Amino acid sequence: MSKQREIIVAGNWKQNGSLALVQEMQQGLINEAIAGVTVVVCPPSPYFASFNATQLQAFSLGAQDVSLFTGGAHTGEVSGDMLAEFGCRYVIVGHSERRNTHAETNEVVAKKTKVALSAGLTPIICFGESEQVRDDGHLFEFLKQQLEAIIVENSVESLAQCVLAYEPIWAIGTGRTATPAQAQEVHAFVRALVAGYDAQVAENVSILYGGSVKPDNAKSLFDQPDIDGGLIGGASLSLQDFVAISRAAI
Ligand code: 13P
Repeated sequence: MSKQREIIVAGNWKQNGSLALVQEMQQGLINEAIAGVTVVVCPPSPYFASFNATQLQAFSLGAQDVSLFTGGAHTGEVSGDMLAEFGCRYVIVGHSERRNTHAETNEVVAKKTKVALSAGLTPIICFGESEQVRDDGHLFEFLKQQLEAIIVENSVESLAQCVLAYEPIWAIGTGRTATPAQAQEVHAFVRALVAGYDAQVAENVSILYGGSVKPDNAKSLFDQPDIDGGLIGGASLSLQDFVAISRAAI
C-alpha cells in the first residue's frame, strides 16, 4: 500500500480481556514486531499498569474513554493526565457504545477531544450512523453534524493531532461489515468535508474503518484509497487475528 498517511490498526477490547490476555498480547506483538503500521491496543484501564508501557516499541497503548474533568470529585472517572502517566498515547472518544449507553452527545465528544489533546493524547474520534439514519437517506447530513461539532469546538488545525474512525453502528459486532465501496464512499466524503476547512489537514489525517473487520475482509477495506487502517473490536481479542489484520494494512 502506498499511502503517505500514517496507517493505524487499533484494537478496542471494550469490556473484555484478562491479565492472561495482556501477557499474551504484549509478548505476541513484541515477537511479531510488525513494521509499517502503528499498532494500538486499547484495553480496559485497570490493565494499563500490567503493560510494560515505557518499554513498548512494538505497539502503543490507548484508552477507551477519558473524563471531561481534569480531576477532583468525579467518582469513577479517569483523567487524561492519569492515562498519559500510565503510558497511554491514544484515547478513543465518541464510540457509539458510549454515545448510546452513556448519553454522550456530539458536544460531549467534542469536549472530550479537547481534553485528550490538552493531556497530550491522540484522540481516535469515532462517528457513524445507525441503519435507520442510512435507510432514511440522512447519512451524510448526520455524519456532517457529528464531525462539524468536533471542528467547531477544537478548530480544524487540531485535527492534525487526531485520528478519525468511521464506525457504522449496523456493522459493529454484527458480522455485517460495510462493503469496501460503502466505507470508501464515507471516507472520501469525510476527507472532502475536512478539505472544505483545510486541504492539508484533510490530506494528512488518518481515517480508520471499524465494524466487523476480520482477517478475511481487512485487506479489501484497507486497500481503499481513503481508508488508513482500522479500529477492531472482537477480532482484537485474538492475537492471531489482530496480527493478521495489522499485517493486512501494510
Ligand atoms: P467489532 O470489530 O467487534 O465489530 O467492533 C468494532 C468496534 O466497535 C471497534 O471500536
